[in-house]
Amino acid sequence: MMELSIETQDKTVESYIKLFTLNEVADHWEYNDCWIVLRDRVYDITPFLKEHPGGEDVILENAGRDVTVAFYDKGHSKDAVEMLGQYCIGMLIESERIYSRPTLCRKEKAT
Ligand code: HEM
Repeated sequence: MMELSIETQDKTVESYIKLFTLNEVADHWEYNDCWIVLRDRVYDITPFLKEHPGGEDVILENAGRDVTVAFYDKGHSKDAVEMLGQYCIGMLIESERIYSRPTLCRKEKAT
């Protein structure tokens, strides 16, 4: 499954889990500074922009935002999913995650 591939590729997330807000990610939307969010993980894909087989523009259009739907809509290969791991710099703060389980249980923790 695609989902599992991403889990296992992002070893970096487990080893140094740095948390970001969507607001912070949104500051990085330029050619020389391009972050994206995919399944609650944050990726700095600046070095990959020029190499992207689908071109720079499609990524830049979505830079600084959640690209999960755009990414899977294009039917990216397993290779593409595996490439992602090396660009992972952290994860969204728990309250802003929409794909990970803890968010689903959030109500129980509300005060
Ligand atoms: C907004 C996000 C993205 C969009 C809309 C997008 C779109 C596309 C499109 C349209 C193609 C097809 C190019 C063609 O066959 O002519 C493509 C191919 C590809 N993309 Fe992306 N892409 C995105 C993000 C990424 C990211 C983050 C990676 C990896 C770090 C990636 C890796 C690849 C690879 C490896 C291919 C070659 C075909 C494949 O292996 O699936 N893309 N992309």
